[in-house]
Amino acid sequence: YASAAEKDLVVIGGGPGGYVAAIKAGQLGMSVACVEGRGALGGTCLNVGCIPSKALLNSSHMYAEAKTHFASYGIKTGELSYDFAAIQKQKDTAVAGLTKGIEGLFKKNKVDYVKGWGKLVSGTEVEVAAADGSTTRLKAKNILLATGSEVTPLPGVPIDEEKIVSSTGALALKSVPKEMVVIGAGYIGLEMGSVYQRLGAKVTVVEFLDNIVPSMDAEMRKAFQRILEKQGLKFKMGTKVTKGEVVGGRVKLTLEPSKGGAADSLECDVCLVAIGRRPFTKGLGLEALGIKKDARGRVEVDSHFRTNVPTVYAIGDIIPGPMLAHKAEEDGVAAVEIMAGKHGHVNYATVPSICYTHPEVAYVGLTEDEAKAKGLEVKTGKFSFMANSRARAVGDTDGMVKIVAEKSTDKLLGVHIMSANAGEMIHEAVLALEYGATAEDIARTCHGHPTLSEAVKEAALATAFGKPIHM
Ligand code: FAD
Ligand code: NAI
Repeated sequence: YASAAEKDLVVIGGGPGGYVAAIKAGQLGMSVACVEGRGALGGTCLNVGCIPSKALLNSSHMYAEAKTHFASYGIKTGELSYDFAAIQKQKDTAVAGLTKGIEGLFKKNKVDYVKGWGKLVSGTEVEVAAADGSTTRLKAKNILLATGSEVTPLPGVPIDEEKIVSSTGALALKSVPKEMVVIGAGYIGLEMGSVYQRLGAKVTVVEFLDNIVPSMDAEMRKAFQRILEKQGLKFKMGTKVTKGEVVGGRVKLTLEPSKGGAADSLECDVCLVAIGRRPFTKGLGLEALGIKKDARGRVEVDSHFRTNVPTVYAIGDIIPGPMLAHKAEEDGVAAVEIMAGKHGHVNYATVPSICYTHPEVAYVGLTEDEAKAKGLEVKTGKFSFMANSRARAVGDTDGMVKIVAEKSTDKLLGVHIMSANAGEMIHEAVLALEYGATAEDIARTCHGHPTLSEAVKEAALATAFGKPIHM
């Protein structure tokens, strides 16, 4: 293919959006380079996001299971303890193996991995600054921006990544704090809050709004919050943090009711700031080329992922849409297919969301309130895991399934699952929504017994016929 300096495509950013796009481009026969500055492939997701958080969630879940459930299964243990350094090492080993794996996939698919920070020089040229100070120029027919996102800072609460941490610091703590405050009851707050609560920290989650995870169905998130409280997480809802400082090794926070009122204070050993993420486009040279961004700093693209400079495309966390790894991957594949003259497309209505706590909460499509706000007449069907034989057999019955469908047509609008393994179970619903299925379609589909997935079928029976079998 073309010489090293002349490519069909240069991708800037080696996260799940960028690296997947580069591999797909290689598979479609394009000459492609992927520029990544952090020294490892996989982006936020693999290095400081999805993967390390799931490793810590798994270890802490197993410890919590041993502590609280093993006796009820008839399993005896000696005195239970954990080695936090070893837990961290298992996480680091998993991350290192996977990032190296992407380098292997790059070789297999003839993707050039260019180490350094990329900057647009023109619509067809990228300058790469390597760690040793040298620069190179890459020329390409098309350029794909996939530079991801960074932590949104909270004014008055400066992050030092030791005492006041972002998710990155929270994933790399050297010991488990005695008391932890989490600011923000979103995905990161609840996942990382769960990790440290299970390992023995007293965790208080401070949330600006009156509800946890704003995008979740209202009924599900209320039940979810009750379960998390039962596990030991404390919530301070409708509260904002106005100041945070480290005094004598402790973090002192000043709080205020979101709607105004008397200030309060809270102390802890470690404070996690998790109030969201924002697009990262610093040093990319967008301004010089006049590439348009919206008010929230997201790169504006058309339905073909094209910016206002026709040879420059953008995907993943830097463009509008859910900031999720699988969404970035879908964007990447579709954008590259479009460049190759094919018909790449992403259906944002069927991107699943999964919170990897225990139980997990997984959902796709519309919540009941969203459907009603669209003027749709809806019906719902629910099924509790208390009535699911597999959940009963293994003594893990927290959770429910809720299905939202259109009343007149029975067409599925949204599926919401809270249970162990909900993140795996949601995909039959994703496929069903993708194919425009009805609740009856799921209700008439044979589900293996005894499985947690039978609860989805039962909720579909409740939606389609008003009655499940086992409740
Ligand atoms: P990123 O993954 O952010 O990758 C962008 C890459 O570009 C980075 O490696 C960066 O170093 C590089 N880069 C930036 N600028 C330049 C430049 N100028 N030159 C060269 N390289 C550059 N999502 C899920 O779907 N599931 C989860 O379980 C999940 N868990 C998460 C947990 C945490 C703690 C966090 C923080 C995030 C989590 N996410 C999760 C979100 C997920 O990580 C992001 O949505 C995803 O990584 C976005 O992919 P991306 O490719 O757009 O960007
Ligand atoms: P988030 O957007 O999920 O949640 C932020 C929470 O903070 C919201 O509930 C918001 O109301 C609250 N908040 C905002 N400002 C506040 C303030 N000043 N004081 C108190 N609360 C405040 O953001 P989070 O958890 O930081 O995660 C960032 C993104 O990373 C997520 O939106 C998601 O896209 C991704 N992610 C996905 C995961 C998954 O898929 N399992 C796991 C972790 C992150």
